[in-house]
Amino acid sequence: MLILGIETSCDDTAAAVLRDEREVLSNVVASQLTHREYGGVVPELASRQHLKHVLPVMRAALKRAEVTPEDLDAVAATSGPGLLGSLLVGLCTAKAYALGLGKPFVGVHHIEGHIMANWLVEEMHFPNLVLVISGGHTQIIRMRRVGDFVEMGSTRDDAAGEAFDKIGKMLGIPYPAGPQFERLAKRGDAHAVPFSRARLKRGEFDFSFSGLKTAARLLLEKEGFAPDTRVAPIGRGRAPGNRGMGELEALPQRAFDILASAQEAIVDMLAEKLEAAVRATQVRHAYLAGGVAANGRLRERIGASLAPFGAALHSPPPSLCTDNAAMIACAGHFRLCSGVVSGPDTNAFARGPLQSWC
Ligand code: KG4
Ligand code: ZN
Repeated sequence: MLILGIETSCDDTAAAVLRDEREVLSNVVASQLTHREYGGVVPELASRQHLKHVLPVMRAALKRAEVTPEDLDAVAATSGPGLLGSLLVGLCTAKAYALGLGKPFVGVHHIEGHIMANWLVEEMHFPNLVLVISGGHTQIIRMRRVGDFVEMGSTRDDAAGEAFDKIGKMLGIPYPAGPQFERLAKRGDAHAVPFSRARLKRGEFDFSFSGLKTAARLLLEKEGFAPDTRVAPIGRGRAPGNRGMGELEALPQRAFDILASAQEAIVDMLAEKLEAAVRATQVRHAYLAGGVAANGRLRERIGASLAPFGAALHSPPPSLCTDNAAMIACAGHFRLCSGVVSGPDTNAFARGPLQSWC
C-alpha cells in the first residue's frame, strides 16, 4: 500500500510517501523560519505559510519517491491536535486531493503519529509503555496493540518541550530552544545547581515542570543572565531578547552549568515517572516519542534507568522524533488496514485525547 502523508499541525509543512509499514520513499519537511522574529509560533502566520508550502512540499514528496498521484492508494493527514488554522490547510488539502483521485482518506491523531514513528524503525513490541514528550504533550501511554491507547499519566502544567523552550528563552536561546539547549548543556556541569524535582502527592505518573521553570527564572534573574529585551531588533530576524549564536557561545561557564542542571532535572523527572510506570506494569518494552525524544542525554539516562528492570528502551532517530509526515502516513496505514477511513466531513480539532480505535 502506497500512502501520501501530510502534516501541518504546527509550524512544519511536511509530506511523505510510505510504502507499506516502513518503507519511507520520501519525507519532506519545510520548517517555517518566519516565527524566529517573534520568539514563538504565530498561528496566523503559520497557516499562511502552510498555504504557500503545502502543494510544493507534496509535489516534492511525490517526485522524490518517484511515484505519480495515480500510484497512491490513500492519503493520510493530521486532523489534530494542533493549531486549527494550520491543521485545516493540510487536512482540507488532503481530503480534496483524495477525493479528486478517488482514493480513501484517513485523519490521524498527531500523537499517534509520533508514537508510530517507532514502527518506522522496527515492529513494536506489546504490551509496552510510550513516553510522549513533545512541545505540546507529556504523557505516559500504555499500548496492548496498535490502535489501543490507555493514558497512565500526563503533565499538570507545561509539556517537557515547553520547559526546554521557556527556560532556554530566559537565556536568549531562539525558539524552539531544545536542540541548542542540549548542545550548550554539553559544556556545563549537570550537578552545579540542585534544582528540586517535582514530587506530586496524587497522580503517581503525572508530571509538573512549572516549579523548575520558576526556579530557573529566579536564579537567572538573580545572577544577571536575563537577556536585554528593551531594544527590539526589528527586521533582523531575531526576537527581542534572543541571543545570536556567537553571543550564546560567549556566555560565561555558569550559564552552561545552569542549562546542564535544568536539563538534568527535566530528564530526571521524566525518567523517574517512566521507571515507576514500568515497575507498576512490568512491561519489557518502553518507547520514546515526540521532539524531546531527540535529546541524547535523555535517551542515555532513561535507557540506563530501565535496564535494571529488564525493560528495553526504543526510540526513533532524531529526524523522526520531531514533526514529520512519514509518521502520519504510518499511523494512517494501520488505520486503513483495519478498515478505518474518514469521511469528507472530517474536521480539524485543536485539542483532544488520543482515543483507541482498535
Ligand atoms: O514533536 P515536536 O516536533 O512538535 C510538537 O508536536 O510539539 O516537538 C517540538 C519540541 C520543542 O519544544 C523542541 O524544543 C523540542 O521538541 N526538542 C528538543 C530537542 N529537539 C527538539 N528538546 C530537547 N532536546 C532536543 N534535542
Ligand atoms: Zn509533534
